Amino acid sequence: MDLYEHQARGLFEEHGIVVPRAEVTDSPKEAREIARRLGGRVVVKAQVKTGGRGKAGGVKLAADPAAAELTARQILGMDIKGHTVRKVMLAQPVDIDSEFYISYVLDRAAGRFLAIASAEGGMDIEEVAATRPEAVARVHIDPAQGVTSAKATEIAEAAGLPQQTVDVLVRLWEVLTREDAVLVEVNPLVRTAQGQILALDGKVTLDDNARFRQARWGEQNAAHDDPLEAEAAAKGLNYVKLDGEVGIIGNGAGLVMSTLDVVAGCGARPANFLDIGGGASAQIMADGLSVILSDPAVKSVFVNVFGGITACDAVADGIVQALETVRLTKPLVVRLDGNNAVRGRAILDDRAHPLVQQATTMDGAARRAAQLANTS
Ligand SMILES: Nc1ncnc2c1ncn2[C@@H]1O[C@H](COP(=O)(O)OP(=O)(O)OP(=O)(O)O)[C@@H](O)[C@H]1O
Ligand SMILES: [Mg+2]
Repeated sequence: MDLYEHQARGLFEEHGIVVPRAEVTDSPKEAREIARRLGGRVVVKAQVKTGGRGKAGGVKLAADPAAAELTARQILGMDIKGHTVRKVMLAQPVDIDSEFYISYVLDRAAGRFLAIASAEGGMDIEEVAATRPEAVARVHIDPAQGVTSAKATEIAEAAGLPQQTVDVLVRLWEVLTREDAVLVEVNPLVRTAQGQILALDGKVTLDDNARFRQARWGEQNAAHDDPLEAEAAAKGLNYVKLDGEVGIIGNGAGLVMSTLDVVAGCGARPANFLDIGGGASAQIMADGLSVILSDPAVKSVFVNVFGGITACDAVADGIVQALETVRLTKPLVVRLDGNNAVRGRAILDDRAHPLVQQATTMDGAARRAAQLANTS
């Protein structure tokens, strides 16, 4: 799970990394109050789970509380790379002398963590990495040893970072290990004109496999800004809202990803990603359908299931039972293939719901679902 900047900032603060004072809101009026509390001048920052917010106009300096309200009004609702801004963070501005980049990321191929650091951090770090890779240091970390002061010194020296960053490197490692993250990134880590080191931006990705031992997982995960994503998360569904018209349900992330592609190839846009995983029970089917059908943008729904361990007849039973509890309001195109496909199709044929139609191939079903979405 990716965290929002303000959540990452909270974790940094808990582990003793210095961050600017900041507060979050979804209201321009409250933004004005917050700016007043923070001393007037503030940086207004879009809270979306994507990078490059600054370049997209989602990070702006406001000179006083009235300007903060205006800027918050501009940024709230903005679309940044397909993410709608629903919250802004207002932070105290910092007098920046230099910007650095530091991160730890799991390097699966190496079976190690990797520290990536550069003395040339900031919004152009991707370009620095592409054009002058020698300006970006990469140091592997033995997970059993971790980042000691000696290791942190090695990283800082390799990247040309000042000595004061050693402490932050050690603390950032603590964030990674204690919070069960697979990625932590600070860009920029800055040195102020007064010589203080602060983290001005943060990205943290938590390890989903560790949720059982992280008490705050639920709370962090509930910070969904999309109401449908929040509902889906509460039901334990693997759902991501997208901005098209064809609702998608599939079993297995790979199949769902390719379903999105095939629908897009048929001239329609997928409305969501929803992977119901292995056990396509009636309850999961009903939950999935109810989330998708409550998205007003959805015009048709495509259920694409390849029966494996969960056979198609069980999936068909799930769909039939789901139709008892969920009122189908939009056409449903179902493609069942794989284990017990013939039995599964027969079950749906017997049910003969007027809004449910079947297709035998994935391409055929995608074409049909796209057509239905484009004509209704
Ligand atoms: N509190 C602050 N005070 C002064 N300048 C700031 C502050 N926060 C951010 N900035 C400036 O704005 C730039 C962009 O902000 P930030 O890195 O948070 O967003 P971003 O563009 O989304 O970053 P990324 O692309 O790394 O996700 C920073 O590089 C920094 O120069
Ligand atoms: Mg940044």
